[in-house]
Amino acid sequence: MPITEPPVQSPLSADLQAILRCLSCGSKLESDQSGGFLCPGCKRVYPNLQGIARFVDAQHYAASFGFQWHRYQKTQLDHDELRESERHFLAKTALRPEDLKGKLVLDVGCGMGRFAEVATRWGARVVGVDLSAAAEVAAKNLAGRDFAAFQADVFALPFAPESFDVIYSIGVLHHTPDCEAAVKALDKYLKPGGLLVVWLYSGYNKWYRFSDFWRRYTHKMKPETLHGILKVAVPFFYNLNQGLQRVPLLGPPAAGLVHHVFPVNRQKDPEARMLDTFDWYSPKYQSKHTYEQVFKWYEAMGMEDMRVGEISIAVRGRKPAKG
Ligand SMILES: C[S@@+](CC[C@H](N)C(=O)[O-])C[C@H]1O[C@@H](n2cnc3c(N)ncnc32)[C@H](O)[C@@H]1O
Repeated sequence: MPITEPPVQSPLSADLQAILRCLSCGSKLESDQSGGFLCPGCKRVYPNLQGIARFVDAQHYAASFGFQWHRYQKTQLDHDELRESERHFLAKTALRPEDLKGKLVLDVGCGMGRFAEVATRWGARVVGVDLSAAAEVAAKNLAGRDFAAFQADVFALPFAPESFDVIYSIGVLHHTPDCEAAVKALDKYLKPGGLLVVWLYSGYNKWYRFSDFWRRYTHKMKPETLHGILKVAVPFFYNLNQGLQRVPLLGPPAAGLVHHVFPVNRQKDPEARMLDTFDWYSPKYQSKHTYEQVFKWYEAMGMEDMRVGEISIAVRGRKPAKG
């Protein structure tokens, strides 16, 4: 589902192009006429389609996210009156503007670019990768910023080792087939002394048991079909919930029960409510994690200076400096 107008990304700066590597043979890539890349070693071509260089040949299991971010391109993007994504970025990464200013940052699973928007606003140079066609939306939303988007897979990233000062991934790696392997795959691309930050779904909450049950079926639906069903179901359950809350005595527990069994997002903004409910029911993979697990993964990578963010599960660690 292409966006109406392809994003216009500025040509990649020489230092960013210097970190691009061929996925097959590891050679440095050269740019081609079309804005894509060519490997001078093995001749593999990485085409530029719809304004984005593609390092995957399909969206694989992430097609629902491609649909979601094309459908809700700006819903969660900060603007003058709203700084909700910045609030989430602070709480889910424990990063501050001084950690990012002037740094080369990788946003893994950038979606439509809401967190890259915050990071560029804080003065970072950001590279965003996403397995889905969401990369197109991010490039369009961040046109004119210090931002480059690629369609690429966290398990096969087209970058030289030790390229980035900071790598963050928010709400992404639990949507891969192997969250632990995905977290550990990122270490390689981090400079010594650099920060690795991940935010994952919490394994401590149990309220989503029922959405997990329904998702076994809903993730198999075409995104368009599921979206059509939710357009009816979300307002229905939301209004039922609101109505029951007003009934004295038995109303609130009944509302709680309905919400437990048929969870829909309860934000005030109907569009945000639809987006987040679709995001719960559409992904094929959605694992949940604990601090104990994630700390063990970070320890295995030798990370130090560990911190946690305000919203679980947010873990930040530093790769030891050399020498
Ligand atoms: C819930 S969205 C989060 C997007 C963004 N980080 C945000 O919070 O707005 C998850 C994103 O992860 C991407 N994703 C899933 N698996 C991926 C993979 N293997 N490599 C890169 N991106 C992936 C999806 O395409 C999707 O855009």
